[in-house]
Amino acid sequence: MTIQHPNFGAMAPDRVIIFDTTLRDGEQSPGFSMTLSEKVRMAEALAELGVDVIEAGFPIASNDDFAAVKTIAETVRGPVICGLARSSPGDIVRAAEALRPAERRRIHTFISTSPLHMKFKLRMEPEAVLDAITASVTLARNHADDVEWSAEDGTRTDIDFLCRAVEAAIRAGATTINVPDTVGYAVPEDLRRIFSTLRERVPGADAVIFSAHNHNDLGLAVANTLAALDGGARQVEGAINGIGERAGNCSIEEVVMAMRTRPDSYGFSNGIETPNILKTSRLLSTITGFDVQPNKAIVGRNAFAHESGIHQDGMLKNAATYEIMTPDSVGWTKSNLVLGKHSGRAAFRDKLVQLGYGEIGDNRLNEAFRRFKDLADRKKTVFEDDIIALIDETVVRDHERVSFEELEVRSGSKGPSTADLVLSIDGVRRSARAQGDGPVDAAFRAIRELFPHEATLALFSVGAVTPETDAQARCTVRLQENGRLVDGQGADTDTVVSAALAYVHALNKLLVKRERREPEALSA
Ligand code: KIV
Ligand code: ZN
Repeated sequence: MTIQHPNFGAMAPDRVIIFDTTLRDGEQSPGFSMTLSEKVRMAEALAELGVDVIEAGFPIASNDDFAAVKTIAETVRGPVICGLARSSPGDIVRAAEALRPAERRRIHTFISTSPLHMKFKLRMEPEAVLDAITASVTLARNHADDVEWSAEDGTRTDIDFLCRAVEAAIRAGATTINVPDTVGYAVPEDLRRIFSTLRERVPGADAVIFSAHNHNDLGLAVANTLAALDGGARQVEGAINGIGERAGNCSIEEVVMAMRTRPDSYGFSNGIETPNILKTSRLLSTITGFDVQPNKAIVGRNAFAHESGIHQDGMLKNAATYEIMTPDSVGWTKSNLVLGKHSGRAAFRDKLVQLGYGEIGDNRLNEAFRRFKDLADRKKTVFEDDIIALIDETVVRDHERVSFEELEVRSGSKGPSTADLVLSIDGVRRSARAQGDGPVDAAFRAIRELFPHEATLALFSVGAVTPETDAQARCTVRLQENGRLVDGQGADTDTVVSAALAYVHALNKLLVKRERREPEALSA
């Protein structure tokens, strides 16, 4: 039967709604926090990718989250913009306020329904949970026509109680019913059974969209999501690169390509522009500083690399021998060799657009172009990966309180290293000299001297962006303060400069995060 959806109109039975939660479930996991402008940039990329719904954040969580949802609602056009809310009126009203500027909006409200969560987390009786569902969905419907209700820990919920809870949500006006596998415990057969049971038994089930939201603790999130489609779900929730709480969420790129590659098993349609997948994945890696592993399906560096002689031979004869989808169908281009020191601004700007950075303002373009020229003078060949690393330094970042200006180090085998560092702090240039056990230690001590703080260093890693000796070093610095974790990235042909840039980036993120208040009882 065709469903009339408040935001999507008449829904063909084989249309699958792609709901992206990179900016909410993904962003709330340790190390993945993003600044306001990074979130907006990511939301624009998700719109270009063609997702149907962007879950932009959890407005009650902090002023930052509220501002992110509101700004995305004001500026990003195309997808429905969604905000998360627990079942309390305060959460729902705050979400509604943040979403008000959106062309099309959705309020997503949730409460736990499993015996374990109701008893220990909510300390509520099941009947009180049913009342809370009715009240919260009713209130949400007063603020939006499109309301999603989620049964947190749904896959560990008694099926009879789940049917009652879903019935209460539908009666109160929910238009999408989501059954999350919050702790990643379910196996595909569970998902198939849960969705078909709900669709068979719950009155009104034929007028709503069922949705799957699977976590990857057993590595089954994508398989579970496909099984949910078999059971009748027509919305899939997930995140780019599969980021999210703990082991992450269902990976959007994987589930979409599974549907596209196997229409014989999953003959559904969706609105994703698959050639935009890679650039969206890369933008997220650039913003968060977490590269995907080389063997990651679809977007990993090796996903389309054929190493063994037998495979290469087969590929030369007919690519279909070892390739189930073409690299260009997900955005891989043949050549990674890009610009040189004679390339002009127009070519540079085109390359940025191709890499998924969209149109950038003139000031930022000038700064990025200056840095590109500087890099091209120092490095024989500038690859796409170099440009991605460089853009991270200039284009993606927000206005930061602390910025790196200059660094000189003396180091060697004879004794402590010394770093002379200049930072600009709130617009004022300040310098310090510090000694340390090695040049990186000396540089980090100089940063602490110029901007004293209590955060501890939880991780420091260095990798080469490309394989040559003049490669840029890409550093990640993780800082920890009162249970908060932030990651910063830097890239430069000088490893110590790169480390200092990464530290300063992390510090700026920490300053933003200090203002955040984590909501109680939020899970997954
Ligand atoms: O995993 C989960 O249960 C969630 C809900 C808030 C939808 O993320
Ligand atoms: Zn989740």
